[in-house]
Amino acid sequence: MKEIFAMKRVAIIGVTGAVGQEFVVALNKHPWFEVKQIAASERSANKKFVDAIRDPNSGILKWHLKEEIPEYVKNMIVESVDDIKPENLDLIFTSIESEAAREIEGRFAKDVPVISTSAAYRYEPDVPILIPGINDDHVALLEVQKKNRGWKGFVAPLPNCTTTGLAITMRPLLDSFGAQKIIMTSMQSMSGAGRSPGVSALDITDNIIPYIPKEEDKVRIETGKILGKLADGKINPANLKVSCTCTRVPVIDGHTEAVFVETSKHVDPETVKKAMQDFSDKVSVSGLPSAPKNYLVVNDDPTRPQPRLDREVDGGMSTVVGRLREDTVFENGIKYVLFSHNEKMGSAKGAVLLAEMLYKKGLI
Ligand SMILES: NC(=O)c1ccc[n+]([C@@H]2O[C@H](COP(=O)([O-])OP(=O)(O)OC[C@H]3O[C@@H](n4cnc5c(N)ncnc54)[C@H](OP(=O)(O)O)[C@@H]3O)[C@@H](O)[C@H]2O)c1
Repeated sequence: MKEIFAMKRVAIIGVTGAVGQEFVVALNKHPWFEVKQIAASERSANKKFVDAIRDPNSGILKWHLKEEIPEYVKNMIVESVDDIKPENLDLIFTSIESEAAREIEGRFAKDVPVISTSAAYRYEPDVPILIPGINDDHVALLEVQKKNRGWKGFVAPLPNCTTTGLAITMRPLLDSFGAQKIIMTSMQSMSGAGRSPGVSALDITDNIIPYIPKEEDKVRIETGKILGKLADGKINPANLKVSCTCTRVPVIDGHTEAVFVETSKHVDPETVKKAMQDFSDKVSVSGLPSAPKNYLVVNDDPTRPQPRLDREVDGGMSTVVGRLREDTVFENGIKYVLFSHNEKMGSAKGAVLLAEMLYKKGLI
């Protein structure tokens, strides 16, 4: 029998940005969530959504998705954050940079759950970094957070979009074979830098930029925390050494990562492939409205994954792995290339999937 869910009232803060626009699409005709309020900075406040994203000089609409702007949002008024009414909401999604997020998310979490794509609260001991399907048991830390802070709501952040694909592919590896070391080089898309300041065409065209501020530490810390164990009200990070080089490449959407893993015991690529597929087949979020049909896809074609082809797989919600092979430098080494969509599973739609999971667990 089909379960019936009451509609929940949600707001999007940061609605005009790169991730905010993805939220607009991810929540269009959502069966459980209805967008009641949208907000951005004072620059956009009190304008209709379409006017807020229109360049005032050229008139050009700064809508960057291939989907059309959904009708429901076109004429909605973008409000100032101070006009968001938590008492009329069941959930707030935020996609703003961390400095502003720190105050705004804390303010609203006093009254209502906040699901965040920013780093503002990720590293606090009573805040889990959640990837639906990967560390669902860490949700229990949200109750500790509410109690510690005397909040009725909570802040539930997603990881940095570069951590997402790495943690997803590492979960079955760690669980099945153990792992000690990871070396990863990322080739990250331009949309990952957001709209403001974003990446200048002059800098990125015909180029690779070998540095993304703060990114490598974020991936290192977040991977350990997500794959860690929750015990006695805190997360003990996984005992994993993570070293990475994060680069920006001239790709519009989707992060590609070359990963080397030292496993605890020798394992061949076919066995790893099977572990990944078995994990994907049984993933907890399967069947939720925003969940992909295939959570993890392992491709045998040696030319995959590729951003142009794989960003479309399951609407950007699948993590695609390819080039799975033995590594000859580590004693027990496996290496692969992964692709993860930074604005779908890596942020907005992943945040909506997290909301669905929390709703089913009765936390929203
Ligand atoms: N881009 C990605 O792929 C990605 C992936 C994962 C996580 N994230 C994280 O998600 C967050 C948003 O990233 P983004 O790429 O969407 O950035 P963005 O394109 O620069 O958008 C920022 C949004 O925040 C709004 N804003 C700025 N200051 C504000 C304030 N004081 N109060 C309320 N709203 C404010 C902006 O409104 P105006 O238009 O009015 O200025 C805009 O809507 C960041 O923390 C980022 O690290 C991004």
